[in-house]
Amino acid sequence: MTASYVIRGGAAGRERLRLLAEVMAPETRFLLAEVGIPPGALCLDVGCGGGDVTRELARMVGPTGRVHGVDLDETKCELARRETAEMGIANVSFSVRDVTRWEPDELFDVVYARFLLTHLADPGNLLTALRRHLRPGGIAIVEDIDFRGHFAEPHCPALQRYVEMYTESVRRRGADPNIGPRLPGLLRAAGFTEVRMRLVHPAALQGGIKLLTCVTAENIAEAVIEDGLASADELRQIVDEMYAFANDPHTVMGGPRVFQAWGRQDTEPST
Ligand SMILES: C[S@@+](CC[C@H](N)C(=O)[O-])C[C@H]1O[C@@H](n2cnc3c(N)ncnc32)[C@H](O)[C@@H]1O
Repeated sequence: MTASYVIRGGAAGRERLRLLAEVMAPETRFLLAEVGIPPGALCLDVGCGGGDVTRELARMVGPTGRVHGVDLDETKCELARRETAEMGIANVSFSVRDVTRWEPDELFDVVYARFLLTHLADPGNLLTALRRHLRPGGIAIVEDIDFRGHFAEPHCPALQRYVEMYTESVRRRGADPNIGPRLPGLLRAAGFTEVRMRLVHPAALQGGIKLLTCVTAENIAEAVIEDGLASADELRQIVDEMYAFANDPHTVMGGPRVFQAWGRQDTEPST
């Protein structure tokens, strides 16, 4: 795990991603259906985590297609492999890679990245690389957050404090917690054409994004404490207050805005 990733990795990180996958599943499915994942396509899922979208892509490309997931977290990759095998899905593979330093030895029809670019110091560089990894006519699909989107009704000071700490911690690692609205511009700057976008905003009275927000707050403890943004006791109190707020079905909580953007690679890849 590089120091640039502020959220706890390993098995705990995978369990958080399971919640995230539940919250995002309908919107990611809608996005993939709208963009169109052709049967038989060869897909790459970068920063694939536990492989939730990797497997969704595998379902869409069918038995004649193939999907490869890459993530730098060995534990998550191993769990992804195991879960995929248990589900009897055969057209998926995973490898442990730092995607900022990796050149695959084949070209893909679709490259996909969810909630990865927000953690990178140079997301434009990765998009340029992803364009190189695509066949002419191939599509890049990215989903990412705008952390400023969080809201609570009534006002929840603990949520506000969490957003401030997360934002600062990501910024100190040179990354952008509010990258979402920059995605179309970043795709264009990387040379993609026919750039399109959608915006979704998870909010809930019970469970869903409320629970995910609390779990994420718990999972940034190491980074926040290492950065001196809060003591362990202060963070525990903030997390407890967030859970108390989230468990009240009369309160409303919204998570980050999620920008979904995609574009086409319409030229021969450079060598
Ligand atoms: C927020 S998670 C999202 C996982 C997955 N895309 C999903 O939506 O379920 C971000 C993932 O990116 C991975 N990651 C961060 N930096 C990376 C890098 N340089 N190379 C590969 N994976 C990276 C992390 O290990 C983590 O699993």
